[in-house]
Amino acid sequence: MSESFTTPVEGIMPRHIAIIMDGNGRWAEAQGQPRVIGHRAGVKSVREVVRLCREQNVEALTLFAFSSENWSRPAREVQLLMRLFMTVLRREIKLLKKSNVRLRIIGDISGFDDKLQQRIRDAEQTTAECDGLLLNVAANYGGRWDIANAAQKMCQLVQQGELDINDVNEQTMQRFICMADQPEVDLLIRTGGEQRISNFLMWQCAYAELFFSEALWPDFADAEFTEAVDCFARRQRRFGLIGAQVTNPN
Ligand code: FPP
Repeated sequence: MSESFTTPVEGIMPRHIAIIMDGNGRWAEAQGQPRVIGHRAGVKSVREVVRLCREQNVEALTLFAFSSENWSRPAREVQLLMRLFMTVLRREIKLLKKSNVRLRIIGDISGFDDKLQQRIRDAEQTTAECDGLLLNVAANYGGRWDIANAAQKMCQLVQQGELDINDVNEQTMQRFICMADQPEVDLLIRTGGEQRISNFLMWQCAYAELFFSEALWPDFADAEFTEAVDCFARRQRRFGLIGAQVTNPN
């Protein structure tokens, strides 16, 4: 693990980076090891990207740790992943606090057992006052769940007479979507060589730049992160406009 960081080109850093951490299972299998060894090795990469984001003053980092669909994996793998989350939350939380990192879990945590739900609440509470990097961990999360959940909350307000049906629009909906209080995702990275979004932050990534890395997640470190943010810095973000409007706004 290198401590140095190569300054990205032009110095344009994303404010919010999201990562689909893919390739743990293949990493382990390539070494004849059980898949869970890959998940454990992936925790090292989590530490590394947290450190890099802090060094580069990224405001928010969102990691896809467990999707709504991951429950359908073999029962043993799901059980070991839950155990890993418990351990990671216990072991890493002090370091996160010391590093001024605020942890938030996004997703339907009611799907987890009581002990894990309590540990999640404790971990969030421990770092609640931290005002450095915001680390969002998506657990039992799905982009469609997020949108449906927001719609349900909005409908409740309409039903209670607190929201006029004519005020149901993108801006109102946005208020109920996960991480509404954070900058929109600027850069979405997926490791492991696959090129799809897999029901991750579908609302929040509307204008995100996408970067697909061939590296398996346990191999994702300084060089791969730098490649992703360098690539981001070279992109022209148009948000629906034409290139000339972006380069010459007046
Ligand atoms: C996807 O790889 C990875 C996961 C489903 C789990 C990722 C979880 C961690 C790295 C632990 C981090 C924990 C916290 C609390 C941040 P995969 O199994 O789909 O890999 P494959 O495509 O090679 O099968």
